[in-house]
Amino acid sequence: MAGAGVFSEILDGDAYKYYSNGEWKKSSSGKTVAIVNPTTRKTQYKVQACTQEEVNNVMELAKSAQKTWAKTPLWKRAELLHKAAAILKEHKAPIAECLIKEIAKPAKDSVTEVVRSGDLISYTAEEGVRILGEGKFLVSDSFPGNERTKYCLTSKIPLGVVLAIPPFNYPVNLAVSKIGPALIAGNSLVLKPPTQGAVSCLHMVHCFHLAGFPKGLISCVTGKGSEIGDFLTMHPGVNCISFTGGDTGISISKKAGMIPLQMELGGKDACIVLEDADLDLVAANIIKGGFSYSGQRCTAIKVVLVMESVADALVEKVKARVAKLRIGPPEDDCDITPVVTESSANFIEGLVMDAKDKGATFCQQYKREGNLIWPLLLDNVRPDMRIAWEEPFGPILPVIRINSVEEGIHHCNASNFGLQGCVFTKDINKAMLISDAMETGTVQINSAPARGPDHFPFQGLKDSGIGSQGITNSIDMMTKVKTTVINLPSPSYSMG
Ligand code: G3H
Repeated sequence: MAGAGVFSEILDGDAYKYYSNGEWKKSSSGKTVAIVNPTTRKTQYKVQACTQEEVNNVMELAKSAQKTWAKTPLWKRAELLHKAAAILKEHKAPIAECLIKEIAKPAKDSVTEVVRSGDLISYTAEEGVRILGEGKFLVSDSFPGNERTKYCLTSKIPLGVVLAIPPFNYPVNLAVSKIGPALIAGNSLVLKPPTQGAVSCLHMVHCFHLAGFPKGLISCVTGKGSEIGDFLTMHPGVNCISFTGGDTGISISKKAGMIPLQMELGGKDACIVLEDADLDLVAANIIKGGFSYSGQRCTAIKVVLVMESVADALVEKVKARVAKLRIGPPEDDCDITPVVTESSANFIEGLVMDAKDKGATFCQQYKREGNLIWPLLLDNVRPDMRIAWEEPFGPILPVIRINSVEEGIHHCNASNFGLQGCVFTKDINKAMLISDAMETGTVQINSAPARGPDHFPFQGLKDSGIGSQGITNSIDMMTKVKTTVINLPSPSYSMG
């Protein structure tokens, strides 16, 4: 159970503690932040409202712990990560319980998120051993005018303190996708969880604590973004920021100092459907891609661009599948569960009303109870409707009918986002041409967009982000190249 058994030390009365210097602590602010359960709309948990002084403190600790950690052999870092992964998986039930209560993620998906996170950590440990265990050896005579008098040795060195800010929709998985690469590369880590999802994060951090990582190396500060958000992201002690979330990332990137940034800020993933597509496959992928976790995924299909000649048939197939979706609480493992906050639900409703006013065809009746919004397919959406461009982060999916492939590509590329997209056709040559023309970080051919498997590169163009994620890319991003050059007094050529 959450906050019980091995997790009892992270709870004080009705409030969860924050993690600093290898200990669970109450904030000196004496204040807490309430976490509202999206289903009941009542306070479910409370976390510490940390102060700026406490942030300063974890930064100091992180700086000094990192110096020792960077001198810890790679195999030992990997060993600890494997241990944390095993502990996390062992405690999947209480962590999944937090995900259900804090972010209304369906029960099975909540367990999957924790298990996937354990696997991600283990893979990161192995990949780190492989790629950080080798460097490059260059010789000078390959560049014109040089003799073989210089030997250049390159290796990857840590950046220092990494600040990780995951989003509410994958508070565990998108936290460990930052923590694992940072630690294996020899960095220390300060985690600022999202408010919804903070308690899941605190349980996950306790698994790292139980694995025995050195004091101060990992910290987790909770609190209001308005009080410690900018203070953290502009803190001079931070050497790298890895952020996943909404357009707050744009303002972070403008305010952050001269440090590497890894940003993933959402998408408006287009699904282009050609006349020769397997429409049953498309419909199944639209349901999975558009409605899983009630559309609250940055990689969700957020607009369907279908050729007019097959649009009626596709819409009918999708409608039939929407009718089978189970709607209700996450505890019952329903497909459609309440969206994360009331303000999200209000925002989604605003998009729906705008589409209604402008004449979209409602394939189902719009229905909402509290934060629970029934799945809705909007047909005949036109570019003057907000839903054609904005990401609802909810179970609402617009369909735009197109008369040419170029029209579909044009709509996709006119978006300020460029995360992923997908194209459905049996013609691989056409698929490749469309993939090349789509200005997105990834194009899926004959499947819905998705980040996983977690070792695949994951990146967005334009407002969708900065840099590339995925295990290998994240490890690379959280390191710098260092070179040592041996200068010989006279040329030396290795003989065979
Ligand atoms: O919400 C953003 C996530 O990176 C999407 O991950 O494709 O595994 O759902 P996913």
